[in-house]
Amino acid sequence: MASYIAAIDQGTTSTRCIIFDRQGNIVSVGQKEHKQIYPQPGWVEHDPDEIWQNTLEVVALSRINARIQTSDIAAIGITNQRETTVVWNRRTGKPYYNALVWQDTRTGDLVNQFAQHELGQDRFREKTGLPLATYFSSLKLKWLLDNVPELREDAERGYALFGTMDTFVMWHLTGGRYNGQHLTDVTNASRTQLMNLKTLDWDDELLEAFDIPRAMLPKIRPSSEVYGTVASEVMPGVPVAGILGDQQAALVGQTCFEPGQAKNTYGTGCFLLMNTGTTLRKSTCGLLTTVAYQFGNQPVNYALEGSVAITGALVQWLRDNLGIIEKSSDIESLALTVEDNGGAYFVPAFSGLYAPYWKADARGVVAGLTRFVNKGHIARAVLEATAYQTLDVVKAMEQDADIQLSSLRVDGGMTINELLMQFQANMLNTPVVRPKVTETTALGAAYAAGLAVGYWSSFDDLRQNWGIDHTFEPQLGEEDRNRLYRGWQKAVERSFGWES
Ligand code: G3P
Repeated sequence: MASYIAAIDQGTTSTRCIIFDRQGNIVSVGQKEHKQIYPQPGWVEHDPDEIWQNTLEVVALSRINARIQTSDIAAIGITNQRETTVVWNRRTGKPYYNALVWQDTRTGDLVNQFAQHELGQDRFREKTGLPLATYFSSLKLKWLLDNVPELREDAERGYALFGTMDTFVMWHLTGGRYNGQHLTDVTNASRTQLMNLKTLDWDDELLEAFDIPRAMLPKIRPSSEVYGTVASEVMPGVPVAGILGDQQAALVGQTCFEPGQAKNTYGTGCFLLMNTGTTLRKSTCGLLTTVAYQFGNQPVNYALEGSVAITGALVQWLRDNLGIIEKSSDIESLALTVEDNGGAYFVPAFSGLYAPYWKADARGVVAGLTRFVNKGHIARAVLEATAYQTLDVVKAMEQDADIQLSSLRVDGGMTINELLMQFQANMLNTPVVRPKVTETTALGAAYAAGLAVGYWSSFDDLRQNWGIDHTFEPQLGEEDRNRLYRGWQKAVERSFGWES
């Protein structure tokens, strides 16, 4: 049996290929950032061709960096930024338009139109687990079909293909216009708002409501099985055997296989998922019901999810748009120049507010300013925004699932920030557990692929790979906690009611 498993992580800001060994250790990484395209306020696009070229490069790099032969790779998995919507031509491979990124808010008016219904934003929640929002693929795809010349005709004739980024990468990886596989997995399909959570198939009523031709949709498959083999010379013949949306992949990478287990990933945004087993749990507190994973022909597991659009992206914004810090990691030392937030709060509602508010018309605000406030306080407010948004989501999760979280497993780039992790534990009043491997997204996709080809044989094999790096214990009294949180809640209210 070959020695390694590879995983492609096609994320919001970069594409990576990571090679893992049997213990879940990282053996090699290839990574490349892609352009963020902002044609108008609120619009966010990616160039799909650039992403595919980057994918080829990082796969090749990951192998070359560690001098690994293709024959040493047992399988490859794919994980990806979810909801981001791309359409391309089956015969030429050319995209019809840039990919519309999950953070893009151009469908704000469509959200309002569709919500003119007795159930309002919850019109499709029963079937899809999702509220009407700019976040999901349904309205993005509708916007493309309504605005890109000739796309609708081509879609009806089966020439134009729709995909989230997993589908786009999979199609190219397995041969593109020469026999590329047009498919997605249940987790990604559950974020399009076009799949019925019970039947696990595209739903005619939803397709009709959003006016989407079925001929352009990929096949929906489990998250772990052999779908095909790599056609490109960067890793020829290697089985492609796992697909998971990135947040579901992190849940698997953290081995949260038991109902009630939860993880929070701190990346561009923050995404807290709790495994609810084979039970579909409806949310009444502003969370999403979504598919967690499906291994081979076993039943699907579902999850409750709290999605927060902007967390790490706020640190990048401070770096790129205001130039207050030079590199993202400088945020911690700047925040440590002061003792607290000095009364300042930053609500980063750049793409509206997601869970648990779902306000497309929210926009960013900085509140509580006095002349006392300096850039150290702003840095603190920026970091604290991540913790407060997570706290909002945890409160909703505890109400919806009717359980008290005993600890929170965390992962993602921002978890190296000790100040943030400690503040998170303080505000949650719950221990925050950081595992040894925090690249859990790619690891989850590797696990899905490795299980499909027998590289790992059971969940127990995977659980053995999980170990704690550090536990942050809460250290803040109730009075302070409540006072700080009240300030946050006031600031959030001030972010509502701007133009969408
Ligand atoms: O739902 C959006 C999410 O999948 C994006 O994740 O890590 O690429 O920002 P990330």
